[in-house]
Amino acid sequence: MIKTNDQLEPAIFVIFGGAGDLTWRKLMPALFDLSQNRSIPAHFAIIAVDRVKLGEDALRKRLRQGVVQFSRSGKAAAKGWNEFAKHIHYLQGDFKGKATYTALSEQCAELEKEWDAKAQRIFYMATPPSLFGEIPRFLAQAGLAADRERARIVIEKPIGYDLDSALALNRVLAKGFEESQIFRIDHYLGKETVQNILAFRFANPLFEPIWNRRYVDYVTITVAEAVGVEHRAGYYDGAGALRDMVQNHLLQLLCLVAMEPMVSFEADEIRNKKVDVLHAMRPIPHDLVHHSTVRGQYGKGWSGGKELCGYREEEGVPPDSQTETYAALRLFVDNWRWQDVPFYLRTGKRLTREVSEIAIQFRAVPHQSFPTEATLDWQPSRIVILIQPDEGIILRFQAKHPGPKMILQPVDMQFNYRESFNTPSPEAYVTLLGDVIINDATLFMRSDQVEAAWRLLMPVLDVWKASVPSDFPNYASGTWGPVATQGLLVQQGHSWPTPTELAGPGASSKATG
Ligand code: BG6
Repeated sequence: MIKTNDQLEPAIFVIFGGAGDLTWRKLMPALFDLSQNRSIPAHFAIIAVDRVKLGEDALRKRLRQGVVQFSRSGKAAAKGWNEFAKHIHYLQGDFKGKATYTALSEQCAELEKEWDAKAQRIFYMATPPSLFGEIPRFLAQAGLAADRERARIVIEKPIGYDLDSALALNRVLAKGFEESQIFRIDHYLGKETVQNILAFRFANPLFEPIWNRRYVDYVTITVAEAVGVEHRAGYYDGAGALRDMVQNHLLQLLCLVAMEPMVSFEADEIRNKKVDVLHAMRPIPHDLVHHSTVRGQYGKGWSGGKELCGYREEEGVPPDSQTETYAALRLFVDNWRWQDVPFYLRTGKRLTREVSEIAIQFRAVPHQSFPTEATLDWQPSRIVILIQPDEGIILRFQAKHPGPKMILQPVDMQFNYRESFNTPSPEAYVTLLGDVIINDATLFMRSDQVEAAWRLLMPVLDVWKASVPSDFPNYASGTWGPVATQGLLVQQGHSWPTPTELAGPGASSKATG
């Protein structure tokens, strides 16, 4: 029997692009997991809207495969699926045809009549971005956005291609929906380890007093992927790493690390504090772009004994593509807390291994009282927040090596999610869709955040576009990216930390080499 929550308001979840890849891979598995956790309302319907001719049974069959493959509970819960599948309906229609919206409106009204209750109407844009500006207009015209309390629209990135297109899209959305009805997804914000940054910083008195320019030397944010462009060249070649990852995921991580403490856990209070960070970012003058950034594109290489092709040889990528698959930047937050502390961001595809982590590197002690021979292996104290695939936090500090002499050696103290909580972290989409259903916008991006992030990056986009990179491809697949990336930090006497791994179960502290 499907388990549902009687406390939640009835909901109709309309997915535009209901027969597409995102629905199959992410949305339906997440909704199914939510149903297994009693986190969907007792009265619940999913209406998949798409252009293709597809019977309801065929759609359900296909969605089931996705659920088995991608959801946490999909494999085990065969009985649950049959119950869940009854909630799925299919509406075939043209996204730009008035008739589709009339039919949708009627279907919603029928469901409400059957349930004898008004329902939340959640409209999810799982379509190509070219439709983001169209569908909201039709929804508004059909009166489907009119109930400000119950109608909601969920929109996936890319939210714009640059500042102008983002402003235009936000204007279109604002015509039909109030800001409180618009949920812009950045799936990084749904990750447990990302949400834990707020808990770590603001639920403990230990770290906040040293979380500032007086003690922090610099911060690095690494989001490295081992995979290449996969089957997404059509989208990716027009985007590149800066638009695809930095504009959203990496800047959101930076905001969480750099923001001031929130006064309450209200969605807008947290989002205000985050947008303050973006507003405080030091603009990058056009003539300093090359000095403050590095871009790269992967070439052929090796990983795990397998030869990998270069980006330009990938299916769908033009052989002379200038798109960057790697981006690194040096940024500054001009405020009292962070003045002159560099924030180094890097992300790329086909790097040595998948790892996302944030390292807070502390300054040296003001006076070094130990003899020189005690500090030969000296390394700065550091807090590393491991986002994925390892999930945890490592605190590195100096300890006395056992023995007759005072010899200092860096050691790690670690918190490992798996060991501490003994329960797997929910998928980001499960958290985010659950939040849409309960109307909690804390983990979603507001229009001003999106616009401020684009504004910051526009000089980089402009300069990169105007100067064709002569050295692409400039890093081999399976490496840590272009050599020039080191230069970004070396100028300041800094270095990228070697990505960290948590020690195995049972090990709570280990010496580092
Ligand atoms: C997406 C990007 O937003 O994030 C992809 O479009 C990228 O290019 C993906 O691969 C990474 O997400 P995750 O959760 O696998 O780190």
